[in-house]
Amino acid sequence: MPPIIKISDAKDYVGQVVTVRGWLKRKTGKGKINFLRVRDGSGIFQAVAFRPNLGDEKFAKVKSLTTESSIILTGEIKADERAPGVPGGYEMDIQEIEIVQLAEPYPIAPKEHGVEFLLDNRHLWLRSDRQWAIQRVRATVIRAIRDWLDEHDFLNVDTPILTPAAGEGTTTLFEIDYHGQPAYLAQTGQLYNEANIFAFGKVYCFGPTFRAEKSKTRRHLQEFWMVEPEIAFCHLDELLEIEEQFVSYIVQRTLAERADELKLLGRDTSKLENVTPPFPRLRYDDAVDMINEAAAAGVTVPPKDEPLTPIEWGDDFGAPHETYIASQFDRPVFVTHYPTAAKAFYMEPDPDRPEVCLSADLLAPEGYGEITGGSERMSDPEKLLAAIHAQGLPEEAFDWYLDLRKYGSAPHSGFGLGVERTVAWITGIKSVREAIAFPRVLGRINP
Ligand code: 4AD
Ligand code: MG
Repeated sequence: MPPIIKISDAKDYVGQVVTVRGWLKRKTGKGKINFLRVRDGSGIFQAVAFRPNLGDEKFAKVKSLTTESSIILTGEIKADERAPGVPGGYEMDIQEIEIVQLAEPYPIAPKEHGVEFLLDNRHLWLRSDRQWAIQRVRATVIRAIRDWLDEHDFLNVDTPILTPAAGEGTTTLFEIDYHGQPAYLAQTGQLYNEANIFAFGKVYCFGPTFRAEKSKTRRHLQEFWMVEPEIAFCHLDELLEIEEQFVSYIVQRTLAERADELKLLGRDTSKLENVTPPFPRLRYDDAVDMINEAAAAGVTVPPKDEPLTPIEWGDDFGAPHETYIASQFDRPVFVTHYPTAAKAFYMEPDPDRPEVCLSADLLAPEGYGEITGGSERMSDPEKLLAAIHAQGLPEEAFDWYLDLRKYGSAPHSGFGLGVERTVAWITGIKSVREAIAFPRVLGRINP
């Protein structure tokens, strides 16, 4: 029996007869020869059916194949530089074919489909070359995240999904019924991370988070994955050093391990190669000036070439503002010291200037917007209680969080990195909805 191999290992079997199990993506050719583009999950290659070699009966089987039929092919692996595929350069000369299932007419044709149609068929759309490449990049991004944190002494301590109170503002809460009591899907694991650092020093949580975002944008999902590192005895400047090391590692590791996938996606990787520390740091005040100068000069912003609108000190940035700021740098840029009133209740105000806080958002280049948000946390229990009241949050739900400031309080900092935005940026795709297998976007829960 020939060995069963992965398409990605074809290079190790040149001249040998092997078996591959997979799915037919496309069949071309006519007369005596048919070319099958075959996928098995590990890679994509071409298998060649040549009638004189196969005989009429087996060749007829090949001819009967429909798109997405599941098949088992046996044949000889040949090296040929021109052979298409991923990684490419190897093809199979078919000797035997077994049809596991002859697929029904496949709803996704090679033509352009509307995105709503594709999202309705997300369970099938995932089989496309593009989606395959994107999910493989995502898996590498996730592995890089864990490896960097594990190797830098961060302990993975996961945090609850069912929570009693808001962590990131009350306007994006998904409320659920917790046995007659209201509860909410976690918007963040951060508050629990803050408990965990006093036991473990440096921690991270990593899981799905939920935001009832009221609009459909290229950057927002209702359910997204976030990794949140948190560090005891850490100030903002040290936090930014950790973030730039971390983000650079993720990008460089993905470039090294997913070159084939990025090429398939047509990503211009030269833009990612310079993602190395240090990243530029810009204060919110200076970012506002930068935006207002550009707005006065009539600058427009992609993707729609909208004119940049001026902003007032204190406003949060819109997507075009972030895009413009990021476009001024060749790598991600930190915007620090946002207005305290515009940010979450737990951020530490700047001691010299309490109207701004010790916060930082990291803006990705090329219009991908904020990929991390972080800050130094308030460490004084009285100030924190006042901030909780000021935001109208229920004090009872934060008793335990206030305790953290009573028993060995210490300066501490952390950040959250959104996986889908990071993947969208690295892969160069337009929207975060393709960066997760089954996206939850406003107005859609299926499939
Ligand atoms: O800036 P955010 O809201 O920060 C927090 O949740 C903090 N508790 C994190 C922390 O300090 N531990 O979200 C962090 C990141 C954003 O920078 C963005 O990348 C991503 O999460 N994000 C979203 N991604 C997709 N869809 C959404 N609706 C997102 N909201 C935030
Ligand atoms: Mg944020």
